[in-house]
Amino acid sequence: MKKFAFLLSLLLLSNTGTKAQGLKDAYQDYFTIGVAVNQRNVTNPDQQALILREFNSVTAENDMKPQPTEPRQGQFDFSRADRIANFCRANGIKMRGHCLMWHSQIGEWIYKDEQGNLLPKEEFFRRMREHIHAVVNRYKDVVYAWDVVNEAMTDDKNATDPYRQSQLYQIAGDEFIANAFRYAREADPNNLLFYNDYNETDPVKSQRIFEMVKKMKANGVPIDGIGMQGHYNIYGPTEDEIDKAITLYKQVVSHIHVTELDVRANEEMGGALQFSQEGMAVSDSLKQHLADQYARIFGVLRKHKDVIDNVTFWNLSDRDSWLGARNYPLPFDSEYQPKKAYDYILNMRKPDWQLPQRPPRRPRPDGEQGQQGQRRRGPRGQQQQQRPPFNAALAFPEDANVKEDFKPSEMNQPGRDYPQVNSQGIVRFRVEAPEAKSVVVSLGLGGQGGTQLHQCYDGSWVGQTAGPMDEGFHYYHLTVDGGVLNDPGANNYYGSTRWESGIEIPAHDRDFYAMKNVPHGNVQQVLFWSESTQQVRRAFVYTPPTYDKDKKKYPVLYLQHGWGEDETAWSRQGHANLIMDNLIAEGKCEPFIIVMTYGMTNDVRFGRLGEFTAKDFEKVLVDELVPYIDGHFRTKADKAHRAMAGLSMGGFETKLITLRRPEVFNYYGLLSGGTYAPEDIKDAKQVRLIFQSCGSKENPDGIRQATAALQAAGHNAVGYVSEGTAHEFLTWRRSLYQMAPLLFK
Ligand code: XIL
Repeated sequence: MKKFAFLLSLLLLSNTGTKAQGLKDAYQDYFTIGVAVNQRNVTNPDQQALILREFNSVTAENDMKPQPTEPRQGQFDFSRADRIANFCRANGIKMRGHCLMWHSQIGEWIYKDEQGNLLPKEEFFRRMREHIHAVVNRYKDVVYAWDVVNEAMTDDKNATDPYRQSQLYQIAGDEFIANAFRYAREADPNNLLFYNDYNETDPVKSQRIFEMVKKMKANGVPIDGIGMQGHYNIYGPTEDEIDKAITLYKQVVSHIHVTELDVRANEEMGGALQFSQEGMAVSDSLKQHLADQYARIFGVLRKHKDVIDNVTFWNLSDRDSWLGARNYPLPFDSEYQPKKAYDYILNMRKPDWQLPQRPPRRPRPDGEQGQQGQRRRGPRGQQQQQRPPFNAALAFPEDANVKEDFKPSEMNQPGRDYPQVNSQGIVRFRVEAPEAKSVVVSLGLGGQGGTQLHQCYDGSWVGQTAGPMDEGFHYYHLTVDGGVLNDPGANNYYGSTRWESGIEIPAHDRDFYAMKNVPHGNVQQVLFWSESTQQVRRAFVYTPPTYDKDKKKYPVLYLQHGWGEDETAWSRQGHANLIMDNLIAEGKCEPFIIVMTYGMTNDVRFGRLGEFTAKDFEKVLVDELVPYIDGHFRTKADKAHRAMAGLSMGGFETKLITLRRPEVFNYYGLLSGGTYAPEDIKDAKQVRLIFQSCGSKENPDGIRQATAALQAAGHNAVGYVSEGTAHEFLTWRRSLYQMAPLLFK
């Protein structure tokens, strides 16, 4: 079926003119259009046909690189490279050769001896020369241009040395670059020789590339061209940035190739949270952004056709892309079907074609068609946008599956209408950013991944989650034109090591943490001196409603937040104080004090969690804070009246510290924070209660099994699973609600 669809599309496409019109034909007056290929592409007949229809230049994606062609010194393996070269020879296509010298995908033998020491320069040059000669000679009939040196400049903006500190560079300095070009020219005087690099439109790096090539050429090094890799994304680079780089390179070379073009449909370069998550459909607006960005890029490239003679896509389709299909980076999708981006690249050559500036807007309520809000002079003479008033009914078209009972989220800033939540748990966002090109909402766990907003008639950006979110609290943020920001409509909560926007989907059982007309306790800030860290540190202390009225002493729960959060989390997004007030008012729980301090977790990198011991925090908590609290509050200052619990990484800390200091705490709680095994507990009498919990969307079986094992070993263990929730605060609010009545009994 897929195959049929593929052939059909070939047929339809080839029917548009008298002869097959592919990208290569559309661009014959501009530059050749290339594609980087793998073994499958040149052996599968459908893919071969697609290559031949669309492209007139081919690059081997990996198979001509130093390591694959000469994995060990003198042992060449050209089988894979030959297969690609022979496909090109048979079909009369010229190849770009990629690449002769690169610090990556290169056999170590070329720069190291058998003991692993870097080779002397002369020996390194000898090996390099033999490699370059062998490869260039073998393909000189079919390769017309070589990327001789790949990626030799540094990305470090502050570096004083402009070169990448690779082993090649350590041995020979920039002479390795000069000699690579000399050897390539020796081997084939007719080849075009390129220096190739990425981030090549960055102003700092492009200047470095420019200076290097200029210096080399002044010294007679045979560099003919600069390869701009072109690994871009939908946010950048801008037309202006590309234009500036080309204009700069033009001054020093007369050939520019765009050697590895692809456009990620996300901000992955920035490393922020992804919205194109696995399994998520690519939204229409994302497809539009990709098409627009491709059109912008080709617009600039076409302008410079005097110096650009080839543009090569890095891979045939999204299925082949080294970035993975979820980046949606190429003109052909995972089914080898042309996308809107393809149409734009193909059609923009028509004289009347214009790049749509923005995704189409919805009609304005006043019936006008206006693309941009009209401009008028403001009272102070500045230009002001005159925009029609916002009307939700126009911005969010009716949908039978969506109930129109949206209300502002209870976590909004005062007077802010958006975000809104309906009774199904669907969230609507509205962000005023009239000049933005893209606004994406990244929701935490239990959400819907990313929600791409679209610009509506009044210039604001609107959108809603694809479906209901889990009940309870979620962190989120906006990504506006690639930059991460908070939503001005919502309050901020500390999570992910920063203050993030928060949203609350009212839970069916929210009554237990609701603010009610009951006696309320007090959450106060305590600043205490910590000798071990030489700092004044902060804790929040909840004292129950009766604390100020009687003279009694109270037990204490030390309650920890999770990774990325801090000491504010349990009382702000956790509502720990309200949960206690309600429990106490109903007579369900002994009044006790809760102490919440920072667990020193934010400095721990995720990849290094295995190295986290909580030793520093143990000192602060047990040796400094516990005595401070016992000295300043009316506590029952003994182990029998002390508990420690924590959520997530705070649970991890709880486990480490309670086991290392069995003399301090008598009640242990791990909330989505792992489990104890019977063998962890050295002395059966050391602990009075072990409480372990998580959300049903986490690892409920783990909690059940661990609890059963502890019970079988004779411990007083209680397990709790929060229905319908994940690793989020509703799980932990409910867990505290379940755990508190069991403490100090
Ligand atoms: C990539 C290939 O596409 C991948 O299959 C391989 O695993 C790593 O290399 N810059 C370059 C290319 O010059 O050689 C790289 O190709 C992508 C980045």
